[in-house]
Amino acid sequence: MSLGPCEIFEVGPRDGLQNEARPIPVEEKVALVDRLSEAGFNRIECASFVSPKWVPQMVGSAEVLAGIKRRDGVRYAALAPNMRGFEDARAAGADEVAVFASASEGFSRKNINASVEEAFERFAPILEEARHLDIPVRGYVSCVIECPYDGPVAPAQVAAVADRLFAMGCYEISLGDTIGAGTPDRIARMLLTVRDVVPVGRLAGHYHDTHGRALSNIDTSLSLGVRVFDAAVGGLGGCPYAPGAAGNVATEAVNKHLTALGYETGLDQDAILDAARMARDMRGD
Ligand code: HMG
Ligand code: MG
Repeated sequence: MSLGPCEIFEVGPRDGLQNEARPIPVEEKVALVDRLSEAGFNRIECASFVSPKWVPQMVGSAEVLAGIKRRDGVRYAALAPNMRGFEDARAAGADEVAVFASASEGFSRKNINASVEEAFERFAPILEEARHLDIPVRGYVSCVIECPYDGPVAPAQVAAVADRLFAMGCYEISLGDTIGAGTPDRIARMLLTVRDVVPVGRLAGHYHDTHGRALSNIDTSLSLGVRVFDAAVGGLGGCPYAPGAAGNVATEAVNKHLTALGYETGLDQDAILDAARMARDMRGD
């Protein structure tokens, strides 16, 4: 029996590769994105226009966007922390951008050298310009369960940041369990609070699999109405500014799981498994 559509938003080429120690050549990143494009994703995050001093691995993002074979119907996404990143993302031809806020002050400072309030000041002109140009902007909230610097994060803090991102024009809010501290109970408490301020159809779960609970957290999120999940092929990932952030939940595992439950993802599992092999080779596993 079909339970309806459920989308996987592929973040491996960005959230995955940003954390790899080995400098990965542009051609390898392009090959990975091209293989992922064949798997049937609607959205693939493959670039990040941040400071090269902060995240050296994302240097070459413009070349990646220039080198990929764009497939009709696929939106290629890029992170932008400030107006400069937004302009660069636009010039490189990103179809959509993402701004990234944190529910906790500690991670915000370590990750983007700004308080949560200052981050919103940087995002406001991005959202305004994007509205004029008709470029969709996605909003991330990091540390929705726990912060590696500040400890446990109250659901109300997450809701406040999600609400603000949504009110300023982000079309979808991705809720990041950045260090994989979530348990089904904590994820449920967080979602029940956030769902009161942002329609559940505009929420996505972005779960890292540090303690192997990401699939259980996805099940809980499904039961509360979430139908979009971020995942990284091959379980690539982590965050350079979040010690303990192991990989994102693996796309191939999420696709297998959702499909077995009866959801339609529209993805080709063989193509995903092939991309996962490429990802593991890139990482040197
Ligand atoms: P700063 O040092 O406070 O800013 O960094 P600044 O304005 O003083 O600039 C410092 C230098 O960066 C200057 O260069 C700027 O020109 C340059 P210099 O004069 O020293 O040579 N610069 C830039 N270069 C390229 N692109 C730009 C840009 N902006 C400034 N856009 C800044 C502030 C935000 C730039 C920095 O902190 C930064 O880049 N942080 C990004 C960190 C990051 O990418 N983290 C990973 C992504 S978040 C994540 O993974 C979590 C997520 O997956 C969800 C989850 O799991 O929870 C999304
Ligand atoms: Mg992440």
